[in-house]
Amino acid sequence: MSRLPAPRRALVVLAVSALAVLGAGAQSSASPDHHPPKESRMNQVIPAPVSVTPDRHGGEFRLTPDTVIRVDRGAKRVGEYLADLLRPATGYRLPVTDDRHGDSAISLDLGKVDPRLGDEGYTLDVDRRGVEIKARTAKGLFNGVQSLRQLLPARIESRSVARGPWTVPAGRIVDQPRFAHRGAMLDVARHFFSPEEVKRYIDQISMYKINTLHLHLADDQGWRIEIKSWPRLATYGGSTEVGGGPGGYYTQEQYRDLVAYAAERQITVIPEIDMPGHTNAALASYAELNCDGVAPPLYTGTEVGFSSLCIDKEITYRFVGDVLRELAALTPGEYLHLGGDEAHVTTEPDYIKFFQRVLPMAEDLGKKVAGWHDLLKASPLTSALPQYWGTTDSNQLVTDAVARGNKVLLSPANKSYLDMKYDENTPLGLSWAGYIEVDTAYGWDPGSYLQGVPESAVLGVEAPLWSETLEISDHIEFMAFPRLPAIAELGWSPWSTHDWESFRTRLAAQAPRWTELGIDFYRSPQIDWPA
Ligand code: ACM
Repeated sequence: MSRLPAPRRALVVLAVSALAVLGAGAQSSASPDHHPPKESRMNQVIPAPVSVTPDRHGGEFRLTPDTVIRVDRGAKRVGEYLADLLRPATGYRLPVTDDRHGDSAISLDLGKVDPRLGDEGYTLDVDRRGVEIKARTAKGLFNGVQSLRQLLPARIESRSVARGPWTVPAGRIVDQPRFAHRGAMLDVARHFFSPEEVKRYIDQISMYKINTLHLHLADDQGWRIEIKSWPRLATYGGSTEVGGGPGGYYTQEQYRDLVAYAAERQITVIPEIDMPGHTNAALASYAELNCDGVAPPLYTGTEVGFSSLCIDKEITYRFVGDVLRELAALTPGEYLHLGGDEAHVTTEPDYIKFFQRVLPMAEDLGKKVAGWHDLLKASPLTSALPQYWGTTDSNQLVTDAVARGNKVLLSPANKSYLDMKYDENTPLGLSWAGYIEVDTAYGWDPGSYLQGVPESAVLGVEAPLWSETLEISDHIEFMAFPRLPAIAELGWSPWSTHDWESFRTRLAAQAPRWTELGIDFYRSPQIDWPA
């Protein structure tokens, strides 16, 4: 990559004012006529930071066999995470230490930044002697580490010793997210993905400062989480998937391990049990949940909207109560996602009746409710988080909820659904919400997208990945890359940085990293991928 396109240079100017706003003390190197050195990786970070100020002299820090990772108390785990990232390719020891002596260091400092950076913000300073990341919390340090990772050569992602030099361009980044919630969803119900496959996706999304993983754990084709009080949900309801494969489920122990793995990467898991529709796997597992007392067969097709829990049976509420109680006990995060979409065979009065009993169950467990925006028909509390998945830029249910005080999560299907095909030739995915090329995924402003929904009412964005056509990690990756980084940038970066030419240039620079990581990405013709 050579010199930055013009709009990105303007960003350096913008950076100066951003620094002033944050009161972080602009460095003298950030003069407006400054041209960043050619090849500077400082300007390649995705999501685009609030401000990037490459050193005017083009200096750099170089990792050596003597470099240490110096951590404050409370930063040790992030330090170990960083060491684990850097050791394989460099072959260096990179001890994680609180010893203040020694020269060459990457320092992770807690609590010494402007409080306006918030819990997730950080500053990153690089000079000849070292790298210093500062943040108020481990979350902020982790975000700084992800930026640092992208400042190193792509070969740093190699899992075996690779050729250096391991240089980091000198300069300063000051950064914090635009939106609190930056999510990815994985549908493990239509096709089951093993804990290892889910962890692989967690690793990938964490590179782009995604902080929430929504797991779609139950649908018509499969129930994927062990519920001890209703064991057949998993052992029978989880025993197949779309196409009739073997399916699978997570034991509670495996699930806790996934939640912990995500938490180490500063990602909160939101579990979803979809109801009252999308419930064939449950209805097939327990005949008594059906209004007629007859269990339907397991389902391995891809139709939607044909199943419903039995609204007038008391056992339905015992079932939902037991499931939510076990799920809440597995969930350190604040939300349980209750689905609520496409309940086409549940009448509207029944739908409302159902959720008027179920919503308080989640609240009584100390959890907030998340749900697809259809759930707004049942008027949940203002603490509930409706997730917009429509394909138009206005929705009365959502507008009314925002007027009542709800915040919303945006995942418009025609922009952010990673399972939509890129174009008519894409071998995987669906197209009911249209084709989504990279510029479409990137080309909308969450802060002004929905009529009647101001930026202040938007909690954030999510990139859902439904798995009717996806069976293995390769498939996940082909659909998520490169669009997941686009949605991640919409969620993190200030709108003032939004620039397609800059984004496509930075995206191209990610490709060698994905190749090192074995990520099978879609080579969109919109991007000038390196040879
Ligand atoms: C959905 O796509 N049915 C939420």
